Amino acid sequence: MHVLVTGGAGYIGSHTVVTLIGAGHRVTVVDDLSNSSEESLRRVGELTGQPVAFHRLDVRDRRGLDEMFARAASSGHPVEAVIHFAGLKAVGESVVEPVRYYDVNVGSAVVLLAAMHDAGVRRIVFSSSATVYGDPVCVPIPEDAVVQPANPYGRTKAVIEGLLRDVAASGTGWQVSLLRYFNPVGAHPSGRIGEDPTGTPNNLLPFVAQVAVGRRREVAIFGDDYDTPDGTGVRDYIHVVDLALGHVAALDRPPAPGTPLVVNLGTGTGASVLEVIRTFSEVAGVPVPYRIAPRRPGDVAACYADVSVATEVLGWKAQRSLADACADTWRWQRSNPNGYR
Ligand code: NAD
Ligand code: WQD
Repeated sequence: MHVLVTGGAGYIGSHTVVTLIGAGHRVTVVDDLSNSSEESLRRVGELTGQPVAFHRLDVRDRRGLDEMFARAASSGHPVEAVIHFAGLKAVGESVVEPVRYYDVNVGSAVVLLAAMHDAGVRRIVFSSSATVYGDPVCVPIPEDAVVQPANPYGRTKAVIEGLLRDVAASGTGWQVSLLRYFNPVGAHPSGRIGEDPTGTPNNLLPFVAQVAVGRRREVAIFGDDYDTPDGTGVRDYIHVVDLALGHVAALDRPPAPGTPLVVNLGTGTGASVLEVIRTFSEVAGVPVPYRIAPRRPGDVAACYADVSVATEVLGWKAQRSLADACADTWRWQRSNPNGYR
C-alpha cells in the first residue's frame, strides 16, 4: 500500500517508516522539520536500503498537499492511506501557547482531511494520546473511559478525535483509526535513530539517558508521595518499535466505514519512576543520580492501558520490555550524545 506519513521525520514517525517499508509498503513522508531533522530520514534510508520519498511541507499548506497527492497519482502509485503524526506535543508549551497548538494540530488535521477528500483518499490512522483521559477514573484504562483532557495539547487531540468521528459518520466511506499512545520510549535497536528532543527533555526516559551519558547532573523525581507502591508516578512505557508495529497492524485491519476504531497502544503494565531509573542504571551499567523534587503540576499518580482491544481487534501486543527500551535508548544516546546534530 502507498502510505503518506505526515511528521515522518519525527521520533515515532521515523521508526514507523522503517517498519512500514520492512512490511512491504511504499512510503512518502511530509514534514516541515519544525521538530526534527532530515538526518533521521537519511538514516531511515540507510536502515531500509532505499531513500525515503520526502517533501518538506507544512501540513497546513493545502496547495503543497494537493500537488503531492496529484504527483503520486500521476506516477501510477496513488496514496491509499495516511498516517498522521505531524503536530506539536509539549504539554507545558501548550499551556503557554494554546492558539499555536490549536492552529498547528487542529489546523493540520482540517487541511489534511480536505486534501484527502479531494484526492479520494479515505483511510486515516491518527496519533492520539492517553492524555485525552486526563486524570483517569480507573486503571487499567479502557477506551470507553471518559475523555477529559486536562491541558490544551490534550484538548487539541480530543477535538481532532471528534472531527474524525464526524468524518467517519459522514457516510462517504471513510475508515478511521484513532490510536491512543501511552508513553513511547526506546529507539531502533541499531542505535541509528531515536528520540532527539531539543533543549531540556520534558519526558522521563530522554532525561534519564542524558544524565547517564553525563550531559546532566541528576534526575529530579517529581514527587514520591503518590498513592502508588513506591510513591512515585506510574506509567505505561511502550517501546517505539512495538508502537510502529501497532501502526502496521492498524493499516492491515481498518474498521468498517461509519465508526472509528479507537485503540490504546500500551503494554498494559505500569512502571514507576524509581523502577525506570533502576532499570536504566542496571542495563547501562552506570549510576543515574536522582533527588526527590516536588510534584509536577498536572501529573497523575498512575496511568496504564487496558490493551484488550489492541489484542482482540488488531491482533497486536507489545513484545518489548522496559529493559529492552532502556538498552535501546542507551545505545542510541551513547552513539549519538548530541542526537542528530
Ligand atoms: P515529533 O515532534 O518527534 O514528531 C512530529 C513531527 O511532526 C516532527 O518531525 C515535526 O517536524 C512535524 N511537524 C510538526 N508540525 C508540522 C506541520 N504543521 N507540518 C508538517 N510537519 C509538522 O513527535 P513524536 O513523539 O514523534 O509524536 C508524533 C505524534 O504522536 C504527535 O502527533 C504526538 O502528539 C503523538 N503522541 C506522541 C507521544 C509521545 O510521548 N512522543 C505520545 C502520544 C501521542
Ligand atoms: C513520566 C513520569 C513524571 C520527568 C507525557 C505527556 C503525554 C504523552 C506522553 C504526548 C511522570 C516523571 C518525568 C522528570 C520525573 N505525550 N518524571 N522527572 O507526563 O506521563 O506523559 O508524555 O501525548 O501527553 O503528558 O510522561 O515522561 O513526562 O513523565 O519524575 O524529569 O516521570 O512525573 O510520573 P507523562 P513524562
